[in-house]
Amino acid sequence: MMAAFTLAHLSDPHLPPLPAPRVPELMSKRALGYLNWTRNRHKYHRRETLDALVRDLKTQAPDHIAVTGDLTNLALRAEFAPAARWLQSVGDATQVTVIPGNHDAYVRATSHCFADIFADYFRSDAADGDAGFPSLRRRGPLALISLSTAIPTAPFFATGTLGHAQLEALQTLLEGLAAEPLFRVILVHHPLRSKSRIKRLTDAADLLAILRRHGVELVLHGHDHIHSTIWIDGPDGKIPAIGVPSASALAHGGRPAAAYNLFAIEPDGNGWRCEQVVRGLDEKSRVVELNRVRLM
Ligand SMILES: [Fe+2]
Repeated sequence: MMAAFTLAHLSDPHLPPLPAPRVPELMSKRALGYLNWTRNRHKYHRRETLDALVRDLKTQAPDHIAVTGDLTNLALRAEFAPAARWLQSVGDATQVTVIPGNHDAYVRATSHCFADIFADYFRSDAADGDAGFPSLRRRGPLALISLSTAIPTAPFFATGTLGHAQLEALQTLLEGLAAEPLFRVILVHHPLRSKSRIKRLTDAADLLAILRRHGVELVLHGHDHIHSTIWIDGPDGKIPAIGVPSASALAHGGRPAAAYNLFAIEPDGNGWRCEQVVRGLDEKSRVVELNRVRLM
């Protein structure tokens, strides 16, 4: 039997340290974000934590790594080069797929930077693969379908939106894949259900309707910085949608310390077998196995 394909998932590294913004860069929503960083967030988003997590992830030698957004904090120009160097240290563009989060499109002025810098990390496989969303990358038995919910929003808002064009293209893409025996994985920054009006995916209902009709095998997201598993409706049963904590976080204010997930995926009869292993920081800041769940 073929060995299982392993997909690692981490999210929201919010790469520290934050470079000092120039004064004109603070004439925006960033002023609030900067204040929040200097007062609070720098204390619990730690580079040494992120490095420990990535070191452990590499010893697990996954077949592919998905990073679901928020590489930056305020989407300052000076944040993108360190973020690119960090991503290269995780792996090259054939081994790693990345999508943007709301912090990577924090303000309109730099909302193009993510695609400019990371296009090779989400570009569709096809020779003429363009660098838009949704994108489709095939790895082993997987179809990795990347979405972007990252749009600049008003101060105090961290919502995301897919938009009509992307939702329509997703539907077409899923129709095109229907005949193939693929393990379809959706990568999306925002969770599909949220209790917070100011942090939600505004068109989640449209995405849920598409997934109910066409199905996928797994949805991976970030944004909330917590361990989360919900089951959404698919055409042939429930689909797991799984979120991870921030990859750089120390435990704080009820939020867990950094962790990542490993999914071991293999065909099983007419379906799939998929086991989730959660690895993350323990109380002594060692990266250990925290949980193991058979999803299907
Ligand atoms: Fe985040």
